[in-house]
Amino acid sequence: MNLRERNLNSKEFFARKVDGYDKVHEKLLDTKKVVTDSLDQETLKVLDLGAGTGLELIYLFEKFPDARVTAIDITKEMLDEIRKRDFADKVTIVCGDFFEVDFGSSYDAVISTSALHHFSKEDKERLYKKVYDSLKENGQFINSDRVVNTQEEENDFHEFFKENFNIVPHCDTPLCVANEKEILENVGFKNIEIIDSSTNDDYKLIKCRKL
Ligand SMILES: C[S@@+](CC[C@H](N)C(=O)[O-])C[C@H]1O[C@@H](n2cnc3c(N)ncnc32)[C@H](O)[C@@H]1O
Repeated sequence: MNLRERNLNSKEFFARKVDGYDKVHEKLLDTKKVVTDSLDQETLKVLDLGAGTGLELIYLFEKFPDARVTAIDITKEMLDEIRKRDFADKVTIVCGDFFEVDFGSSYDAVISTSALHHFSKEDKERLYKKVYDSLKENGQFINSDRVVNTQEEENDFHEFFKENFNIVPHCDTPLCVANEKEILENVGFKNIEIIDSSTNDDYKLIKCRKL
């Protein structure tokens, strides 16, 4: 399954899952809140990759009521839920694949929650380069997502997907901490931290900066 097929599969998957999505993700709310907790005090212009129904934005606008967010997501049905939220007028919605759409530029921060764990190392490096280029100097990239601890665990997830994508096409393939770090370094990020930050052991908080 190539990248484009995989992304189209995500789109179909989340279009089917949108009803009840927020309920299912209630147990992951602390993995979304930690992103806002890590943002610089003066954060105003934010890009959210894979914004979905905008759960992480509830916390963001509580702490940063003056912020303006560009929300990119491939699934229109998920984005339609953001349009119903009371902060909808502060969000510019872009429906498209983040490997294809223009990100815009000069963001104080690019954030993402639960949205970037389906890609190969090579594809993720391309994506992180786009993130880097869209940030202003000193801008932050903060991603709360599934990351595994070892290369062996990463290999197991990717092998499982290779053998079973016909049966389970929406299957997580997280990278390991070392590979996440290497990619971020390769594209030029500094002050990279990958830490446990929530009660959910599968999740890590990835923080770095364009200096
Ligand atoms: C698990 S949801 C996370 C939504 C939200 N960030 C949250 O934490 O609740 C993952 C989202 O990423 C989006 N997504 C997956 N692949 C994408 C891609 N290639 N381009 C844009 N959005 C994508 C999906 O449509 C979905 O809404």
